[in-house]
Amino acid sequence: MSDNKKRLAVFCSGTGSNFRALFDAIIERELPAEIVMCLSNRSQCGAMEFAREYDIEALHLSESQFGALDDFARAMLNALRERRIDMILLAGYLRKIPDEVIAAYPEKIVNIHPSLLPEFGGHGMYGMRVHEAVIASGETRSGATVHFVNEEYDKGRIIMQHHVPVVTGDTAETLAERVLRCEHRLYPAALEKLLAEHP
Ligand code: GRF
Repeated sequence: MSDNKKRLAVFCSGTGSNFRALFDAIIERELPAEIVMCLSNRSQCGAMEFAREYDIEALHLSESQFGALDDFARAMLNALRERRIDMILLAGYLRKIPDEVIAAYPEKIVNIHPSLLPEFGGHGMYGMRVHEAVIASGETRSGATVHFVNEEYDKGRIIMQHHVPVVTGDTAETLAERVLRCEHRLYPAALEKLLAEHP
């Protein structure tokens, strides 16, 4: 049966709590998928430690290891092809995916963003900046979005969104915690939907 499983790569730069949520969901819900590798621009981070702990390949790949961006893009493409990756899940990956890689995996690269896109997305909108902007705007709800990745930041087709309230007295930090908990439910749900739609 393992031949029917989608081979996933998860790209991370930080804690990796979404990576863990995806990993747990695949096991608990018996999803037809396998996380084959975690790729990160950082050799040491929570996500890479988690991968090593669970015997998932932890591949450190960073622009700084290459003389030219083209070489970096080629190395990333080769790594994906060698491992026969079907789908790439970005989970807190803070680097731009090279255009060559996006072109080679159309609607096969997915990202999670901590706002209700298209609001509070785009270049430079990541991490706490997103939540600070939501609080400053006076919005009464926020949330998270899972979407396909294309050449433009946060502009690819939306796959699924969940929302959370912004409550009186919220700070960027309290909102960030609520949104992150929402992400941990949303990303597995979106993966399950994708796997069902593209068996
Ligand atoms: C999440 O908020 C996600 O939306 C964003 O980066 C954060 C990653 O958190 N893209 P974690 O590493 O999964 O804990």
